[in-house]
Amino acid sequence: MKNRSLVSINDYSQEEYLRILDLAAEFEKQPVQDLLNGYVVATLFFEPSTRTRLSFESAINRLSGRVIGFSDSNTSSATKGETLRDTIKTVSNYCDLIVMRHPLEGSARFASEVSGVPVINAGDGANQHPSQTLLDLYSIRKTQGTLENLNIFLVGDLKYGRTVHSLLMAMSKFNTTFYFISPDELKMPNEYKLYLDNLGLNYYEFKEFTDIIDQADVVYMTRVQKERFSDPIEYEKTKNAYVLRNSMIENAKPGMKVLHPLPRVNEIHLDVDNSEKAYYFEQARNGVYTRQAIISSILGLK
Ligand code: CP
Repeated sequence: MKNRSLVSINDYSQEEYLRILDLAAEFEKQPVQDLLNGYVVATLFFEPSTRTRLSFESAINRLSGRVIGFSDSNTSSATKGETLRDTIKTVSNYCDLIVMRHPLEGSARFASEVSGVPVINAGDGANQHPSQTLLDLYSIRKTQGTLENLNIFLVGDLKYGRTVHSLLMAMSKFNTTFYFISPDELKMPNEYKLYLDNLGLNYYEFKEFTDIIDQADVVYMTRVQKERFSDPIEYEKTKNAYVLRNSMIENAKPGMKVLHPLPRVNEIHLDVDNSEKAYYFEQARNGVYTRQAIISSILGLK
């Protein structure tokens, strides 16, 4: 992993996922270390973020590294017409690692090709969000005790949701059975179903899931993403497609956990928050340890 960019979750092997998860468990036990003393990481966010940017920055700060960057591209020279190529080539002179979020699919791959330092994709449009996936794997293994042979329900915006696209690719290495639950307008794209077909993995598609909830090990809720719709009427039609309530998970397995990459809008009712099945805020906390593991691996410090 040393000096390698993390653009797609498929850039890492199954063994490398497990190595990151083991390292993250070590960081969870000891999150404050001097490992990044003298290192500078740039966080370039061309799209809004709370968890990804702040958990990366928290991870870096707790390892004694320094952070530069921007959280609003309107404060960067992109507003003057500077190309992404020139921005990345310039910033890579100032740091050891770049963490970038950008609305365009493929932008992270492009950045990694022109950068003089490794690039971590913190989300590129509807494409990929690999560091989210590694923290999701960490959360799933921590709560289920294994990543193997699980039934994962992916619920909501499966068309534009980069987190579910990355998670599907990663979990496909662990003999997962997938349940895709979405309205017709937001179904899992065919390319991902074909990906599973080629691996001989099972998946099922539903519009509702309350009556099959007892089969789930993990229910992974997602937000219908207003910012990805070109037609506001389409968004209005689907925005309230699913609202998970506590009464809907009463018959679930005792160990079933509800995950969500967050932010949520209204797809998980507040009455789920106090359930022992709710795990999304712990999941967000796991982002710090997992990102400490990713950064230290890429910098060759672990
Ligand atoms: N999960 C996630 O990517 O959240 P943010 O958009 O707040 O970074």
